[in-house]
Amino acid sequence: RDSVAASETVSTTPRRAERPAPATLVAGQPFVNAPDTDPAVESARAWAHVVVSPETAARLAASVPEATVLAVPADVDSVVARAAEVAGTWRATTGAQRREVLLTAARLLEEARTDLVGTMVHEARKTVGEADPEVSEAVDFAAFYAESAAQLDEVPGATFTPEGLTVVTPPWNFPVAIPLGSVLGPLAAGSPVIIKPSHVTPRCAAVGVDAIRRALVEHGYEADLVQLVSADEGEVGRRLVTHPEVSRVVLTGSIETAELFAGWRPDLHVFAETSGKNTLVVTAAADIDLAVKDIVRSAFGHAGQKCSAASLLVLVGAVGRSARLHRQLVDAVRSLAVGPATELATTTGPLTVEPGEKLHRALTTLDEGERWVVEPREVPGTDHLWTPGVKAGVQPGSWFHLTEVFGPVLGIVRVDTLDEALEVQNAVSFGLTGGIHSLDEAEIAHWLENVQVGNAYINRHITGAIVQRQPFGGWKASVVGPGAKAGGPSYVAQFGDWSDDASVP
Ligand code: SER
Repeated sequence: RDSVAASETVSTTPRRAERPAPATLVAGQPFVNAPDTDPAVESARAWAHVVVSPETAARLAASVPEATVLAVPADVDSVVARAAEVAGTWRATTGAQRREVLLTAARLLEEARTDLVGTMVHEARKTVGEADPEVSEAVDFAAFYAESAAQLDEVPGATFTPEGLTVVTPPWNFPVAIPLGSVLGPLAAGSPVIIKPSHVTPRCAAVGVDAIRRALVEHGYEADLVQLVSADEGEVGRRLVTHPEVSRVVLTGSIETAELFAGWRPDLHVFAETSGKNTLVVTAAADIDLAVKDIVRSAFGHAGQKCSAASLLVLVGAVGRSARLHRQLVDAVRSLAVGPATELATTTGPLTVEPGEKLHRALTTLDEGERWVVEPREVPGTDHLWTPGVKAGVQPGSWFHLTEVFGPVLGIVRVDTLDEALEVQNAVSFGLTGGIHSLDEAEIAHWLENVQVGNAYINRHITGAIVQRQPFGGWKASVVGPGAKAGGPSYVAQFGDWSDDASVP
């Protein structure tokens, strides 16, 4: 597993420098608060347009990039046949040649940033603050996997052979970074790819796939090396996953979906990132200001709809009785700007989909010993917009302790020792992310030695892994198959076979 020391995150791609001042923007209104000649104002106008303009929303809604096949089950055979038809030239390329295509894809994705952010805001109901770094992550995947492709040529005495066709089935909660990263990995290895995005967010994937297809064409390759199949109907997915020409499925989704795929086709190679029930531990040796900031970001970013989100806060010893921590946490949660994703000021937007049974229970029910510190409520007249909730008194072994709820609810558990905190943290079946806030090196070392998660963060928020620097992947029930971590050194190399005289780099 990877551990990550405290520090600011750094992306390998440039970030947009100028941001509009939220207070000066009104939905549907032009930005008028500064002279026209100021470049920062132009930038702010562009953002305002993307985020609040109904015309932009309509344009995006009307544009179906040509990559998209609106499929019925019978279409699957022709899409697979087309992939087989174009695969030959791509399989024959060197890694260095594929590197050039992926670097172009990185550039075209960067150029598509505005459309990608706008599509995420409108289709996935992501805030701009969440959507913009997600574009950076997708660009980072392209740039990093480009280098991984070139490295495949450089293993002395060994030959890399890409696998056959890869199918990608991503989720709706990271509707750009996960679909595109999952496509770019096998593509970098030399495989053709078919992606079936979530029916909730097909357009987010389609805008990104369109950029990758244009990169292929720019270098003289067939766009159909990457095909997108969009369908509401489950049968399309089953036909795709069980097609004999498909050699590998990259799934990010629930453990139930992974089991469904395995039931459909037991011999299938599935790499799956599944669920998480993630804990942040805060000890008496923590920097409280930093801890509160990271708790709120980890628990309520994208309204908690992240497999990596913090769902449990475990307070160790005296910090559990700290009035200061409780006051700061309550203030911070109440200060979140809850509103439509189309408002630039919003920090907590609406749920992307209607709460399922588990989330509804978590938002509306207290079990024995629990009490609301901040009670969540559904904002009347909205489409699943909830204010965030914090419940104290969560009991070890209780339903909330052990269940992934995937929404804006944080539960607090109080324990006496770090070992008890580890017991609470490790008792869940999943092992995706986890964090500790402590300035005591011995505590940190002990926690790192014992925590059972794929991504262990120290004095940092526990979402938003950075490509290359924090390869992302789970442990225990959070992972299915031998999949290498996304954004890590072995990710691309797993989509192929090596000659016997070498090992995977
Ligand atoms: N990679 C995301 C994160 O780190 C989750 O998919 O939050």
